[in-house]
Amino acid sequence: MRSMLFVPADDEKKLGKGASIGADALILDLEDAVSLSRKAAARPLAAQYITEMRPRAGRPLIYVRINALDTNLWEEDVAAVVGSGPDGVMLPKARSGADVHTLSIALNMAEERAGLQAGSTRIVAIITETPVSMLQLNTYVGSSSRLEGLTWGAEDLAAAVGARTNREADNRTWTSPYRLARDLCLFTAAAANAQPLDTVYVNFRDDEGLRNECREAVRDGFTGKMAIHPNQVAVINEVFTPTAEEIAFSEEIIGVFADNPDAGVVAIRGNMIDRAHAARAE
Ligand code: COA
Ligand code: MG
Repeated sequence: MRSMLFVPADDEKKLGKGASIGADALILDLEDAVSLSRKAAARPLAAQYITEMRPRAGRPLIYVRINALDTNLWEEDVAAVVGSGPDGVMLPKARSGADVHTLSIALNMAEERAGLQAGSTRIVAIITETPVSMLQLNTYVGSSSRLEGLTWGAEDLAAAVGARTNREADNRTWTSPYRLARDLCLFTAAAANAQPLDTVYVNFRDDEGLRNECREAVRDGFTGKMAIHPNQVAVINEVFTPTAEEIAFSEEIIGVFADNPDAGVVAIRGNMIDRAHAARAE
């Protein structure tokens, strides 16, 4: 998944547009984008949308962001939507791998009730929204075989620690605590064998800022990014798609090692290329 677009699950108009925007995945949100008074209305809309979309060829993947596990909402969320067969569930404000494990067990039961294949509902967790999670990121490694992606969030973390802001004066560069959260998410995802997904860029009219942030994310190893607005999807898809030159160079590296199976290191146009580069090329 290069792009994952949030769609508030109680908003029928946005749901109606969702599938035609070109996002690799949609995240039907039952959490922060839906007010408490609208949660009950949002659940059946999400379930109905998934039921309608599931058989369609070429559709985006569909995830549902449920409410956090320290609320009394998430169990109803799971009960209402999992039976319709979303590709996955997004877990916000995760506190540790134990939350992923708890969710995984609830998904087991919901899948069994609905006659879905066990383990078919994947999990993408947001692992930097609570300070306690920041202190035990290692617990996500091995937390569930459902774990597909890890991502990070800066808004709830900023609120939790009482930050005045999380961006520098240029309104683009993350301040130090949020760079730490981002970077640790990347390492945690690599350790957990999960897809590292960059967080949202909230200033949805600033295409250039978004593009820069996407480039930095790709440079560092993130392989996708969440979006909040349709206009962000094309930029994200473009930047997270390897260029023809990058693909050709990777194929060249793989080819050189295939032709020289005993070589540990080779030279390509004056650059040392070793097995680490070959792994990256693959
Ligand atoms: N998914 C689907 N369609 C969306 C959309 C989204 N996330 N965001 C906007 N649209 C639609 C609008 O309905 C509008 O449709 P129209 O042209 O038929 O009227 C069109 O795209 C252009 O939207 P625009 O007027 O530029 O934005 P807005 O003021 O309507 O909405 C937001 C701005 C931020 C409220 C909206 O983008 C949004 O709800 N984003 C998702 C928020 C969310 O889920 N947050 C939780 C995770 S952080
Ligand atoms: Mg939030």
